[in-house]
Amino acid sequence: MLKENGIKKILIDENTVKQKVKELAKKINNDYKDKTPCLIGLLKGSFVFIADLAREIETNIEIDFMIVSSYGNDKIGSEIKILKDVDIALSGRDVIIVEDIIDTGYTLNKICEVLKTRNVSSLKICTLLNKPSRRKVDIKIDYNGFDIEDEFVVGYGIDYAQKYRNLPYIGVVE
Ligand code: IMP
Ligand code: MG
Repeated sequence: MLKENGIKKILIDENTVKQKVKELAKKINNDYKDKTPCLIGLLKGSFVFIADLAREIETNIEIDFMIVSSYGNDKIGSEIKILKDVDIALSGRDVIIVEDIIDTGYTLNKICEVLKTRNVSSLKICTLLNKPSRRKVDIKIDYNGFDIEDEFVVGYGIDYAQKYRNLPYIGVVE
């Protein structure tokens, strides 16, 4: 399943991911007691993470998804295009954005800008992975799974050319 698949090494194994997801959910449970936050998963990369995270959350939640594409993703003025927006009205809601991995931060920065115009009651960010050494814009991460080195990772929803999303662990491609 490993080498023949083009995976160089396992960076974070299945069980470690699982424990971390539980930990993050515990914090969310604490912070949102008696509230009904809306989790917004950014597709496609967050689909596995949000599915596991949601099942560890004990407070009432709603779930929705966005698909965004970025133009010139490496520039500060780059725009994002919303290919799929949420269906839920966000005004007055406690929103948690669920992301697979934050790299430069440009994508999330733009999404936050867009969501803040919708009169949300609160806006927090939850990411499974974070590459702090790659950051170009300041992002406050409220729930962070793992800080990782500047390596290209796949698995647990994250792809390389649309492949590897089904791996149950986080791996590094060759
Ligand atoms: P940012 O705007 O640079 O923060 O882009 C973040 C997005 O880039 C993530 O949501 C991923 O879709 C993608 N990305 C960043 N690093 C990786 C990686 O190591 N593997 C796969 N996708 C990545
Ligand atoms: Mg993503």
